[in-house]
Amino acid sequence: MHDLPTLNNKLDALQPKEIIKSIYMDFDNLTLSFSGAEDVVLIDMACKQGLKPNVFTLDTGRLHPQTYQFLQAVMEHYSINIQILTPESTALKRLTDKKGLFSFYQDGHQECCGLRKVEPLKNHLSNFSGWITGQRKDQSLTTRGALSIVEVDATFIGIESNLLKFNPLCNWTSEQVWLYIRSLEVPYNSLHDKGYTSIGCEPCTRAILPHQDPREGRWWWEESDKKECGLHSKKSSS
Ligand code: ADX
Ligand code: SF4
Repeated sequence: MHDLPTLNNKLDALQPKEIIKSIYMDFDNLTLSFSGAEDVVLIDMACKQGLKPNVFTLDTGRLHPQTYQFLQAVMEHYSINIQILTPESTALKRLTDKKGLFSFYQDGHQECCGLRKVEPLKNHLSNFSGWITGQRKDQSLTTRGALSIVEVDATFIGIESNLLKFNPLCNWTSEQVWLYIRSLEVPYNSLHDKGYTSIGCEPCTRAILPHQDPREGRWWWEESDKKECGLHSKKSSS
């Protein structure tokens, strides 16, 4: 087992591109989660260094058409395959038979996110030693302010029990992400041109106005400290 505080100190001194290289040199059996702007930056950095990342996305069945188009564009741009993970059909049918298609507006998003995102993610991660995410501290000081570059995932179990979680863009700002995307002409979701900042499922995401918190358009009917879907636990230890 690696000494994570020492590893974090070492990685903290590096730029994201170097962090990715260092992670892939030191660790095997990693999977990279793909959904948005940050993740395509990670894919770009990995592919340009000759790495062949294993990439997956959680297709909840409720994504915007623009998100599916973006997914296809990324696969073609980098000549990579992105594994598309889908929810378990029996459990999903049970939910929709009982509560319909929009129960999250009354009951909160945890139940639907649990079936459509968390369960497929849990199954997928059980085959790996670590996963890489595009989370950043400044996405939400409430829920992500204490993020580290490397942590032991407190929610999910990997193939050898402990699962490592890497957040190479942890210290980057939104400005740095978008400077990278614009200057290197990296593909991005066209919804960003329409005022969307953080993009999840279509019924649970809306555009925001200038100077609103970047995550205000996600699950806007819920309190700000509930705006996590269960993929990322606050309890992770470093
Ligand atoms: S969420 O928890 O609110 O949905 P957010 O959209 O901020 O997460 O994304 C943070 C990171 O979680 C992404 O950079 C990506 O690593 C991962 N992630 C989020 N949604 C998905 C998804 N549908 N498929 C795969 N990874 C995802
Ligand atoms: Fe369901 Fe909304 Fe969660 Fe998507 S974001 S899985 S539609 S509750």
